[in-house]
Amino acid sequence: MSFDPSDRIASLPTGIFAELAAKKRAVAERGLALIDLSVGSPDLPPAPFIRQVLAEAVLDGSKYEYTLSAIPSFAEAVASFYQRRYAVSIDPSREVVQLMGSQDGLAHLALALINPGDIVLVPDPGYPIYAASVQIAGGQLVPMPLRPEHGFLPQFDAIPVDVAERAKFMVLNFPGNPIATIAPAAFFEQAIAFAKRHHILIVHDFAYSELVFDGLRATSILAYPGATDVAIEFNSLSKTFNMAGCRIGYAVGNRQALNLLQLLKSHIDYGVFRPIQEAAIAALMADPSHLEEQVHTYERRRDTLVAGLRNADWQVPTVHATMFIWAMIPSRFESSRTFALDLLESTGVVVTPGDAFGQEGEGYVRIALVQSEDLLAEAGQRMAAYLQRL
Ligand SMILES: Cc1ncc(COP(=O)(O)O)c(C=O)c1O
Repeated sequence: MSFDPSDRIASLPTGIFAELAAKKRAVAERGLALIDLSVGSPDLPPAPFIRQVLAEAVLDGSKYEYTLSAIPSFAEAVASFYQRRYAVSIDPSREVVQLMGSQDGLAHLALALINPGDIVLVPDPGYPIYAASVQIAGGQLVPMPLRPEHGFLPQFDAIPVDVAERAKFMVLNFPGNPIATIAPAAFFEQAIAFAKRHHILIVHDFAYSELVFDGLRATSILAYPGATDVAIEFNSLSKTFNMAGCRIGYAVGNRQALNLLQLLKSHIDYGVFRPIQEAAIAALMADPSHLEEQVHTYERRRDTLVAGLRNADWQVPTVHATMFIWAMIPSRFESSRTFALDLLESTGVVVTPGDAFGQEGEGYVRIALVQSEDLLAEAGQRMAAYLQRL
């Protein structure tokens, strides 16, 4: 018996990741130890105090009911975190929607907002769910290319007016995945003005808000005047607090957009497990100075890998945020995919071909800093030896 996929599922890309997974298995079977720098999942654990709160709550038999949505103290903790970290005021009773990770919100937002054929502006390259959610909802994707000559920022004046007029929402992601750009204030101000002019909702994905290095800081879009008229922001405990597997995040900002997302979610899930909400509250309410150690860990990892690759004359950039290096492939390879597959085959180091993030990603690979410094040093040596052999 065979069951056909729906058209919307059939339209989703699977190619690159399936090919990479098959090659990883084949290389591992040959006995070469893999160093996997392809996934964006933190390898570090949450701080002990967060795990302690989670462990105690899990043992409490009274905490196993459906929560349906955020418990009030979660929304208050988010508001407190936003006030302390970004000087943004949020009304916890009306301006916080809890999510099962920001992926949940990003995946469902298009279903809550768009009708078939509506336009959505997405960064290219961009985190894959931006485009996939629009495809699932039957919307029309219009990519906003991120190119080096424009500092990897979308160019609003390149968007035709009739497209802007038909656009329902626009996704931004700073600091971004796969490109770790930190957007300047002027860019956010321009984005808000553009969104107001054309009646577009801005969806800012702020998943890497706290993975910012070298003494820099990222700003919430909600810190800019007029932002809550046109913007919502997704944030997550996955990267900031290493709680990726707990599946907890949130959306804040424009009330009307948040209400629509909450309404859709009330038909889909019954809330996050209470012990996870309690652990998240402890994380959000803690003195954020404990995040500094993690920032230094990623800085050291970045320095180790960048130095290793530059030794082999691969001029990769020094990123100042996130856990990703976005590197142009060596010129003798015809595509990101042939380079990533050959690198894996020859060295056991796994990186993600840039076209997994959109057409504009062709010619690049994404290298994730999700292994220890020792393993990143080893990966650097293997890649340097490989590049010198080419
Ligand atoms: C840019 C970006 N947004 C959102 C997510 C989803 O994170 P989560 O659903 O764990 O909050 C990720 C995960 O890798 C990401 O890189």
